[in-house]
Amino acid sequence: MNSAPWWKEATIYQIYPRSFFDSNGDGEGDLTGITANLDYVKKLGVDAIWLSPFYTSPNKDGGYDVANPRDVDPRFGNLADAKKLIDRAHELGLRVLADIVPNHFSDQHEWFQAALNSPAGSIERSRFHFYDARPDGTPPNNWISLFGGPSWTQVDDGQYYLHLFDSSQPDLNWDNPEVHADFEKTLRFWIELGVDGFRIDVAHGLVKEDVLANHPDPQGLSNALRLDVAMDTEKRNALLLTVPYFDRQGVHEIYRKWRKIFDSYEDREIMAVAEAWVHPPVNATRYVRADELHQVFNFDLLTAEFKADVLFDVIERSIALNATVNALPTWALSNHDSPRVASRIGSEQARALALFVFALPGSTYVFAGQELGLPDGELEDSDRADPTFFRTNGEIKGRDGARVPLPWKGDSTPFGFSTGKPWLPISQDWKPLTVESQELDPKSSLHLYRNALELRTKHLTGKGGITWLESAHHGEKSENLLSYSRGEVTVVLNLADSAAECEISGRALIVSGCVIDSHDGKKVIPARSCAWFVA
Ligand code: NOJ
Repeated sequence: MNSAPWWKEATIYQIYPRSFFDSNGDGEGDLTGITANLDYVKKLGVDAIWLSPFYTSPNKDGGYDVANPRDVDPRFGNLADAKKLIDRAHELGLRVLADIVPNHFSDQHEWFQAALNSPAGSIERSRFHFYDARPDGTPPNNWISLFGGPSWTQVDDGQYYLHLFDSSQPDLNWDNPEVHADFEKTLRFWIELGVDGFRIDVAHGLVKEDVLANHPDPQGLSNALRLDVAMDTEKRNALLLTVPYFDRQGVHEIYRKWRKIFDSYEDREIMAVAEAWVHPPVNATRYVRADELHQVFNFDLLTAEFKADVLFDVIERSIALNATVNALPTWALSNHDSPRVASRIGSEQARALALFVFALPGSTYVFAGQELGLPDGELEDSDRADPTFFRTNGEIKGRDGARVPLPWKGDSTPFGFSTGKPWLPISQDWKPLTVESQELDPKSSLHLYRNALELRTKHLTGKGGITWLESAHHGEKSENLLSYSRGEVTVVLNLADSAAECEISGRALIVSGCVIDSHDGKKVIPARSCAWFVA
């Protein structure tokens, strides 16, 4: 019997509620639309869903600007709809993770509205980071927001408040015990409604130090934090060591307290995964020490080139670092903040990489639509909604491309997603990518994902670590082949643009490209593809 907790080696499907399925024709996905399609999710073979925020929000940052963390935004439904979703998921044997956003609230939250209506130095202002202007009227320091522009906004009486993201997302002051108490209440609220855990937004950001000190190179730091800005690695790494508002020791005290809350629900196996972009990479392991959180995202595969040495390093490092704290790694190829993997590295490569990653130890996160091989949507500037686009005057296009709604069925856009006008346009070119089209094609990405996840559960889950293999490459190190064995399975990835012959015994379980041939007792691995063999 497998006694490992459910989350140890889970496959977790990330749903961006606004883009999943619209049940009421207003052009935006909603909770009822998710509930209605949970059978589809279950059939994929995942263990859990993670729902990006659906809380009351003016939606300036896709719901990561929360105005009431303990209620549902009307665009998504209401609390009864949330309960129905959770219950239906549980009936199907799916766990549910909610997103919690503790670094900031929306400026529409009642606390921030009260702060605006209260004087400098008041209790109301102490829940955020309000400071006087400098004598020359400028902000308290020179930090730059992660979405561009200054990270301070001035209010009517001259004070400034801090916002690492949009000006509509004031950062909370975690030196204030009221903030702790309110989040603990929110955690319990959702656990008691039935959720099985949380994805913690900006988990590394809650505690700030030196809020009144200038950074020596704020623009350099801002560029270093933006992965779309090219920068010499040494320079980037040196700058990343100087972020005054991320990864401070104090955040760990918060997660120790939260862990006690999770564990107090003894029969529930509540888990939490941290979104923590930290440097150096070893620091990420602190978030998953035995008395803190259960998982920390590993974002390296969101940007890694499709090259054998790069993938080897990322995978090896993540496994080794997590092992130091007795944790297993996590893997993600796409999410709502990054270009979709099929656009970034190519669709064949994306299929191959998914298969390569699904056999690894640890938990895998799949961003809804990834199973369909969706590319980024192509958008006009007039379609865009991401605050990054607006705060950089259009210089950075932002993340909307990855958030285009899912195509479900039919011959014309919006392919069953909505009976209304979808909030972001779905290209007519996506017809072959609909769920309905892919159901009919056994070679589709959808079938590949379903088959792979079924085989992962059957042959790989709980089967321990991996052993890198070089023998499969004729005993020579190859630039274009990567392979490892795990349990009874051998996994081979051919990154080249031509087929490769490998000496591997056994039969092919699954292949991301065309069918495997045998040739003189060797297996032929198609170009840009991955295969699993079983002895
Ligand atoms: C990370 C979330 O994934 C992203 O979508 C959001 O904009 C920022 N945190 C701010 O909450």
